[in-house]
Amino acid sequence: ALIPGLIAGAGARAAEMAEALAGCRRCPLWRDATQAVPGEGPQDAKLMVVGEQPGDREDLAGRPFVGPAGQLFDRVAAEAGLDRGAAYVTNAVKHFKFRARGKRRLHRAPERDEIEHCRWWLDLERAGVRPRLILAMGATALASLTGSGAGLLRRRGGVEETEDGTPVLVTVHPSYLLRLPEDARAAEVARFRADLSRAAEITG
Ligand code: URA
Repeated sequence: ALIPGLIAGAGARAAEMAEALAGCRRCPLWRDATQAVPGEGPQDAKLMVVGEQPGDREDLAGRPFVGPAGQLFDRVAAEAGLDRGAAYVTNAVKHFKFRARGKRRLHRAPERDEIEHCRWWLDLERAGVRPRLILAMGATALASLTGSGAGLLRRRGGVEETEDGTPVLVTVHPSYLLRLPEDARAAEVARFRADLSRAAEITG
């Protein structure tokens, strides 16, 4: 077992992982964050969804994808016939990285070494859940899962592989869609929806 004593059933495994993650000091991001945000969902999910890192809302709630990006994901997933409750939803980096501006906490993208350090946890989640497909949302997830996040828009819609052979469907991050100008958004959301439909089909 990677964590000593990690032997019991799926529920116990998830609880134990969350507890170990809460004490993670593998990189300095824990210092400013409220808490580590573990993945959530069935331990035997066929689909694993991987984002970048918790945002402001997730940092406070202790749950992944509950803020604006999560709400967009939930809406498009429902339209695409993807059942979020059946998927294991997590992030490449488990602590919120931000810069304080007054009372606001502004998101900062994780560095390569932070992604690298946190991959230990993602690997542990992958080993426990053993999904049939992983949906990589955005360059950080893609970098963590395949070793490179470069050329995301060129690679989106494609199926790649992790080092150990798990298929990875590449798509954009919902925050990217939220940042797009109004006139470009609908077409990009449609492509995102098509990617989510494909994920649902493959794992359905
Ligand atoms: N963005 C992410 O990548 N993950 C979350 O959990 C929330 C926003």
